[in-house]
Amino acid sequence: MGKKLLSVAIGLALLGGGVYLGSQLGSNNSATIVGGADRYAKTASTSAAVGSLAKSVGASGKGKVHDVKAGESIQAAVRAAVPGDVIRIFPGTYKETVYIDKDDILITGVIEQGQWPTLEGERKLNDAILYSGNNITVENLLITHYKGNGIMGQAGNNFLIRNNRIVDTGVYGIFPQLGKNGLISNNIVSGIEDAAIYVGMSDNIHVNNNEVFASVAGIEFENSRHGVIENNLVYDNAGGILTFITPGLPIKTTFDLIIRNNFITNNNHVNFGAPGSMVSGVPSGTGIVIMAADEVTMENNIISGNKNAAIAITDHDSFPNITRDPETDPKSDKIAILNNVMYNNGTDPIPEIKALKVATFITGNVDIVNAGESRGSCILNRDQYQTAGLSGYGTCGFSTTADLVTYLLPEPVEPRPLGELDKGKLTYFGVCTGCHAYNMRMIGPPVETIQALYMENPEGIAEYIAKPEKKRDDYPAMPAQDYLTPEERLAVAKYLLGVDNHGIFHDPALNQNQ
Ligand code: HEC
Repeated sequence: MGKKLLSVAIGLALLGGGVYLGSQLGSNNSATIVGGADRYAKTASTSAAVGSLAKSVGASGKGKVHDVKAGESIQAAVRAAVPGDVIRIFPGTYKETVYIDKDDILITGVIEQGQWPTLEGERKLNDAILYSGNNITVENLLITHYKGNGIMGQAGNNFLIRNNRIVDTGVYGIFPQLGKNGLISNNIVSGIEDAAIYVGMSDNIHVNNNEVFASVAGIEFENSRHGVIENNLVYDNAGGILTFITPGLPIKTTFDLIIRNNFITNNNHVNFGAPGSMVSGVPSGTGIVIMAADEVTMENNIISGNKNAAIAITDHDSFPNITRDPETDPKSDKIAILNNVMYNNGTDPIPEIKALKVATFITGNVDIVNAGESRGSCILNRDQYQTAGLSGYGTCGFSTTADLVTYLLPEPVEPRPLGELDKGKLTYFGVCTGCHAYNMRMIGPPVETIQALYMENPEGIAEYIAKPEKKRDDYPAMPAQDYLTPEERLAVAKYLLGVDNHGIFHDPALNQNQ
């Protein structure tokens, strides 16, 4: 996204004068009050977790303890474990992928005299921890040099990922996908090619007290709903916090997110995202990017030193590389910017923002820029910020989200019923859609392209993914999926060939609780 996106949006705005300048920049909506004090009012469920956010997430730890010492295999301990068990990992270097397909497993590192248990991928292994069970806890691990993901979840609910250090590890550092009710706390994640923390197609997720830096994106919520992102330290990434809709995925919406009490500073890192990936388009120097997401509220963040802008709000129409998804609303609506501290942002913006400033007679540095139409959005005390493209925003009729403690649920949610997602489908959504979208380029080529290549040949896909060879110059190599059994590889290949965008959307299992 990013450069091109803003350029087109603002280009349109400028050229189309009457269209965007008229409706957006020209009219002034500051007298319109948007939303009432009840927007984030206390309710039994949203304040239920006060005192202990972790109450409905994570493993019980009530079972047997399995100790894993240097030289032993974590996977062997997981194999021997039953739900309720605890796997204690002692300091040492473990070169493996740990696959957890059971429920209620507690993976806990033992840190002795400053020595951490270390999962070392040697730049050969794909993922360090891959879970599909429910009520999984992963804590106190040092994870480094994996090619795919540090910790990835596939459809596991009630997860707890805390106090891990993830360094220089692949595409995503922490990546729960299709999970519900999960807490990601106190992790330190750096050197990630896409997002340090990536919440994908998940609901009721709380991300707090993490430190994320030196990655392309710090924290990213995509096609996810009902989330709180708070008290994080987000610095030295290309983009700090992103809330997006990626078109072509089975979940079509991103909404109801609160971004508050974060330090989002100096996110001016060179963007080293995989060429052509969506995140590679985020203009370096942007604190928060909102693209096509709705109901995103920002409060009490300290956003400083981001050279492009503190906050950029935009839509899909402005993004030429995106194939529009007819079932996704492309605009960012109902955005709310409450009181935040923003200073020293926008010192070196992309040319499109510069052009917008010229056209709208703005001379100072811009904190907040809005490109494209945004309906029902609001800002509080707007004079404390320098803005561009926000005159269509009303004034917020509410001033805080404080009464809404969390969207974590008071009780653990049930696992997804078995049979609802067969193995092929689970692997497809859990693994493949992290890199392959249906009709647009993500990390890998679109699923449509793969379908055309392999029409009647699921065996060919199963074989390819076990040992992918490099095919395209303009794509990175695909990591081997050899941790999947041959049956699982064939099942996912068949599922992939049968998938269609429309069909996925109408799958009620994937659209629960919208
Ligand atoms: C970490 C990212 C990633 C994940 C996860 C991933 N892929 Fe890929 N995939 C890629 C990339 C990148 C390419 C392009 C590689 C190239 O052209 O050299 C690719 C290419 C492919 C191709 C094209 C092969 C060809 O002959 O052109 C197939 C088939 C494929 N992936 C299937 C899958 C399946 C099935 C899954 C899930 C089990 C999956 N991929 C998971 C990144 C990924």
